[in-house]
Amino acid sequence: MRTLSLPRAPGTEVLVLENASAVALEGARRFVRLARETLAHQSRFSVALSGGSTPKAMHALLAHAPWRDQVDWTRVHVFWGDERFVPPDHSESSYLMAKQTLLDHVPLPATNIHPMPTVDCTPDQAAQRYTGVLKNFFAPKPPRFDLVFLGLGPDGHTASLFPSSPAPPEIALVSVVTQSPKPPPIRLTLTYRVFNAAAHVLFLAEGAGKAETLRLVFDPSVTHKFIPAKGVQPTQGTLTWILDEPAAAHIQDG
Ligand code: 6PG
Repeated sequence: MRTLSLPRAPGTEVLVLENASAVALEGARRFVRLARETLAHQSRFSVALSGGSTPKAMHALLAHAPWRDQVDWTRVHVFWGDERFVPPDHSESSYLMAKQTLLDHVPLPATNIHPMPTVDCTPDQAAQRYTGVLKNFFAPKPPRFDLVFLGLGPDGHTASLFPSSPAPPEIALVSVVTQSPKPPPIRLTLTYRVFNAAAHVLFLAEGAGKAETLRLVFDPSVTHKFIPAKGVQPTQGTLTWILDEPAAAHIQDG
């Protein structure tokens, strides 16, 4: 593992590991460490999961020994950073992916699982309902996740914040995307307001296909309007990028 020394905001760390397996292992290791540290002084640990394929290997590690047995899952609460607006049993559902790769394998009470609503409501109603879920869970304080996992799309999107997405209202916690360039087209996503309030944000990105995007992520001349992932800058939290060597190959370091 190597840490990039490139110019970055305080609290930001950029780790480069040998390969995708090492990225998954570091992600699992950090989840367990943050969960244990948080639960040592809090009654609950709130985490927002990411969709896509990258998290699957990390989920699989967390779903089995030794990592599975190092977390008090009864005090973990699982949310999603975004969701495709499809039924929860649909092959494209991020909830289904997490259920199959992680949630079905750990002793997490069903009441601790907080999926974004995607049936029996419109997308706008779903966004309103999930806003209520977040407000109720974190009340009386504003929503502040203990940990947020995020991925990076080749176009610089993260969660379902795309370069083409209209900026949601500043106060919005959850917004609707209707023309996602990454199918399915209709999605729900947490906003920068939520992501940037988090205590810890972990980006996992791997593979040569992300190398050019990551060069832009760490290019100070490029804004988050062009690369939405750059808009994630926790105001009072840590930001960690966990990359593999192929993904980090184009980053200008030092
Ligand atoms: C989704 C994710 C999305 C994902 C990136 C990276 O709904 O697909 O929220 O933001 O994290 O597109 O996806 P991969 O991990 O598959 O490269």
